[in-house]
Amino acid sequence: MAGMTISKLAKMKANGDKIASITAYDATFSRLFAACGMDFMLVGDSLGNTIQGEQSTLPVTTEDVAYHTRAVRKGAPEAFVVADMPFMSYATPEQAYQEAAKLMRAGANMVKLEGGDWLLETIGGLVERGVPVCAHLGLLPQSVNVLGGYKVQGREQSAAESTVRQALALQQAGAQLLVLECVPIELGKLITQKLSIPTIGIGAGADCDGQILVMHDMLGLNSNYLPKFVKNFLTETGDIASAVELYVKEVKAGTFPGAEHSFE
Ligand code: KIV
Ligand code: NA
Repeated sequence: MAGMTISKLAKMKANGDKIASITAYDATFSRLFAACGMDFMLVGDSLGNTIQGEQSTLPVTTEDVAYHTRAVRKGAPEAFVVADMPFMSYATPEQAYQEAAKLMRAGANMVKLEGGDWLLETIGGLVERGVPVCAHLGLLPQSVNVLGGYKVQGREQSAAESTVRQALALQQAGAQLLVLECVPIELGKLITQKLSIPTIGIGAGADCDGQILVMHDMLGLNSNYLPKFVKNFLTETGDIASAVELYVKEVKAGTFPGAEHSFE
């Protein structure tokens, strides 16, 4: 993944080449992911669950994400690294600028924010100030208490239409990448067709321009609950590097996710 950039990711969409990505939290794994051909990595606030043992992503701070971003950057100097802005770290545009700066200084190439319409001004301001933005629609884990649980989003016609409209608005505001989490296959496909920026799905069907998984999930390290969209790539490979390579291969071939990992 030498020298991956946002323009190369955009070109991949234009060429119909699928984008493979994964969460990363430390230097050892980021080095391995880069060597396995991962197109980009996300220092997700899922580190609240996977690293810190919390019940949600809400306790995570910008300092936590910056700490892990530094480690991921050291393991993969050439990688394209996206860092999550944590819960309530971008409540106002001004706060978002200050917090995003910490993540960019830690080595991120782009920051990710959860939400739609209310973020348009913030996204425009970040991009003008030199901070590339990945948007995130569908299931928003930072809003789990508002949503009343981790549920598939955009099933009703009105919710689906609203998500499409907000995806276009986020792109218009300057977002250069969009994560779609837990939406029906048809909605993932429609948004991917309508947008010129790449869509990265997690539980959003195989028609998205790329896929992302939490590394612990795809290595089967999630002891209790495995979401439907997750596949354990370690069982059929037996070692971590082969599991990661198989994931990349299946994303590139369009064979992961299958219907059994997606929502109708
Ligand atoms: O924090 C995270 O791991 C994420 C991905 C699931 C997209 O936001
Ligand atoms: Na996240």
